[in-house]
Amino acid sequence: MKIINRIDKMKTYARIMKKENKLIGLVPTMGYLHEGHLSIIRAARNQSDIVIVSIFVNPVQFGPGEDFEKYPRDINRDEELAKDCGVDIIFYPKKEDMYPEGFSTYVNVEKMTENLCGKSRPHHFRGVTTVVMKLFEIIKPDITYFGQKDAQQAYVIKKMIEDLNMDITMKIMPIIREEDGLAMSSRNIYLSESERKDASLVYESLKLAEGLIASGQANPKKIIKKMRDLLSEKPALNIDYISIVDTKTLKEVTTIEGEVLIAIAVFIGKTRLIDNIILLPSALLCEQKT
Ligand code: PAF
Repeated sequence: MKIINRIDKMKTYARIMKKENKLIGLVPTMGYLHEGHLSIIRAARNQSDIVIVSIFVNPVQFGPGEDFEKYPRDINRDEELAKDCGVDIIFYPKKEDMYPEGFSTYVNVEKMTENLCGKSRPHHFRGVTTVVMKLFEIIKPDITYFGQKDAQQAYVIKKMIEDLNMDITMKIMPIIREEDGLAMSSRNIYLSESERKDASLVYESLKLAEGLIASGQANPKKIIKKMRDLLSEKPALNIDYISIVDTKTLKEVTTIEGEVLIAIAVFIGKTRLIDNIILLPSALLCEQKT
């Protein structure tokens, strides 16, 4: 496994691989790899000839007062984990090379980025799509992998790929959870012992919603109310949002008739956690079974 820091070297390597007709799989990350990332990397390993993992804590997707400085970083540990998963290249660029002085070009996906996390993190997705576009331009992957854990991010990137006619296949990989259901995230490291216990309620609230929908409840307001009631049992837990949206448009639905994404963001102490579940209404589930 090689570590490439320089953009020009990464481009040259990727171009050579392309000439050799190798299928390039790219897994973009901000590092501090956990089982969620590793499961994605393993899928990339199975499906591509060359697996490239980018590790870059992207400053432009963090807002003022967010955790850019303290975002966990451990490149040595990441190297070991990546090597064990059969990664070929870690692309680990420097901030000053990715965003040299005078950098002023951004990629923005409209509408879909305005609700859910976009409401409380207004420039976040512009930062994500900009860096992902840069990674795509540098590496020119055939396949790229993202996790469903950041569902809005995944949908936004999918839209960018479609809208800009990019020749990249995107795969969205399932959420990997701890035993008590907490979605794996690099930010879980911030949680104190008691916060960590409370955090399991986030997934419980999603399972509650799943049960309600399966038993025929189609009114999002009623479902969200029940989820809020459950979460309010833990005073340390502050809800940023709970939203039930159409999976194609990410617009809130007034009744659950087709596939929906139930997305949630909470603060536990200073840590912001997100999670989600994709569900079909009970009527469609029955149709699928027959
Ligand atoms: O999901 C992440 O880790 C980041 O948002 C990404 C996609 C690597 C862009 O910085």
